[in-house]
Amino acid sequence: MRVIQHFCASRNNGHSLFYSNEVQLEYCFSSSLPARVLTAAHQADQEGASEIAAFEFGVDRGDELLCLEKYAAMVERETGVRIAAYGFDTGKGIPLMSGDYRDHPDQWRVGNYLMDEKLLRKRLSGRTTLLIGNVAQTVLEFVRNIRSHAGFVALDLDLYLSAMDALRIFLLARRKMLRRVPMYFDNIDFFFNHKFAGELLAIDQFNLTNKQVKIDRWRVIAKRRVFPESPRLSKMFVAHDLAAISKVALGRLPTSLI
Ligand SMILES: C[S@@+](CC[C@H](N)C(=O)[O-])C[C@H]1O[C@@H](n2cnc3c(N)ncnc32)[C@H](O)[C@@H]1O
Repeated sequence: MRVIQHFCASRNNGHSLFYSNEVQLEYCFSSSLPARVLTAAHQADQEGASEIAAFEFGVDRGDELLCLEKYAAMVERETGVRIAAYGFDTGKGIPLMSGDYRDHPDQWRVGNYLMDEKLLRKRLSGRTTLLIGNVAQTVLEFVRNIRSHAGFVALDLDLYLSAMDALRIFLLARRKMLRRVPMYFDNIDFFFNHKFAGELLAIDQFNLTNKQVKIDRWRVIAKRRVFPESPRLSKMFVAHDLAAISKVALGRLPTSLI
């Protein structure tokens, strides 16, 4: 265990990682999900936010959403930052597409990934809210009543248009987000992917068309890992709230640079 702790600390630029062995191990060894949840909670702590919202856009059977619940509970216990989870899905699978290459119609068709909503609701705990409907509408409604800051976002909607609609969570007037929000884009590294379609196009368009928030690769993530070659790590991004960052006047010495 000491060796592992030493390894984790050395991966973290010499700073000891912040929480218990269980969470440190998850952070260093496992897939990207624990890293996202833990980093979100750490960011919330730095910003003085006691609660954050964690989003899974594109739920299907709920496999990832159930994992998110598990790690949210673990990280919440450790950090004291409350984490509410939200899953967004049509409930009816892939919706109508744009009609051209941007949605990769050669990969998906309307109705793929049909959810068993009743079963999924039985499996989810009270921590998680399932929002059924097209994200074009549900994101608008959600942001209207948003309570806590967006802490992290997983985007697995497959389609360009759907991804654009989901990313409005960072743009709407009543949005709430941490200054830095860890993100995961699932559909960006298959053979058929290119930056003129799908989630990659949505990231480009998002960055081109607004000045307040920009999405960029999570640059340091692979350096802090036992398995830096894990393919999931290259799917991790960060949404930076440039407007909010501009307003910060640092009142303390810089802390560990995570
Ligand atoms: C690949 S599946 C998600 C898989 C899930 N993240 C997992 O790992 O278990 C993609 C999901 O995105 C949903 N989806 C795509 N476009 C959507 C939209 N505009 N609004 C809501 N859900 C959408 C589909 O219904 C489908 O269930």
